[in-house]
Amino acid sequence: MTGGAGFIGSHVADALVARGDAVVVLDDLSNGVTENVPSAATFIEGDVRSAADIARAFDAFKEIGDGSPATGVCHIAGQASTFRSFDSPSWDMEVNGVGTARMLEAARERTISTFVFASSMTAYGPPPALPVTEDMPCEAISYYGVTKYAAERAVLIAGANSDGTMRSVAFRMFNVFGPRQSLTNPYQGVLGIFLGRILRGDEILIFGDGDQTRDFVYVGDVADAWVRALDRPPETPVALNLGTGTRITMTALWRRIASVCGRDPETYPHSHQGPRLGDQRHMQADISKAQEVLGWIPGTSLEVGLGRTVAWAKQALEDTSAK
Ligand code: UD1
Repeated sequence: MTGGAGFIGSHVADALVARGDAVVVLDDLSNGVTENVPSAATFIEGDVRSAADIARAFDAFKEIGDGSPATGVCHIAGQASTFRSFDSPSWDMEVNGVGTARMLEAARERTISTFVFASSMTAYGPPPALPVTEDMPCEAISYYGVTKYAAERAVLIAGANSDGTMRSVAFRMFNVFGPRQSLTNPYQGVLGIFLGRILRGDEILIFGDGDQTRDFVYVGDVADAWVRALDRPPETPVALNLGTGTRITMTALWRRIASVCGRDPETYPHSHQGPRLGDQRHMQADISKAQEVLGWIPGTSLEVGLGRTVAWAKQALEDTSAK
């Protein structure tokens, strides 16, 4: 798998290792850290744009487990920030587009029977209606959304052209949250940013009026979907939403996090700035297709997931300050 040192990837790696799968993680550590990689997995530092690095990861696989070659690929590594894609569209396209094409070429040369890809809800752009179904148009409004959608199409085409040897699934992930999410990186998901700021006592910054909405899905549930895709990939290549089917405004979100952290939202400092480039207004997933195809149900409510995330974040900040 790629991206296994990062937030979402490390949870997928954990889930695979927990059930006894042999796992090789290819990650360039641009966002991830080696501590996130489960100790039972083999870690290869490398870049998904490099065919040589990808080959090293596949070779490493033959050294572990029963010596058989890899059969499944989870491709999660990527440039993950909508906002940063505006700073360098070419870099975004290289990592997300070329990187995915390289992974697909490597998969084609080997015995890969299932290829699962981390796409994004940003592929849709502003949807014509909510909740968003997979058959709605994909009209991304950020470079990131465009490259994720391009890569997703490449993954599905590769599956369709494999003469039935490789099945492919692309997950249009909505706003994934949970332990190991960055509490400091301003370019990563908003829930971690708000949580980090509240635990440090810093002011909350809201881009726009705060009435924009997102569908937050717990990372453990997302990892479960990835495992299901490897276990029962459908014959026909498919893109599937991974969300919960609910949405919350950014204002309600930060206020809720403040309450869970024991801070009074009425008095907590917050301010507004103009909306960010490429920001989508409202998002909410229709998840009936993932349920139908994979039998997937995201069982963790925002309340429960947030409780776990806050407990993890408090510990993580304590550990950092103790160092
Ligand atoms: C996020 C991810 C994207 C992923 C997508 C689907 C980032 C930057 N974006 O997109 O990679 O593909 O989910 O899973 O990780 N906001 C604030 N204050 C802040 C930060 C953000 O008000 O300090 C607002 C944003 O302007 C936006 C909303 O919160 O309206 C959500 O932001 P964010 O989580 O950063 O990005 P998404 O566009 O939802």
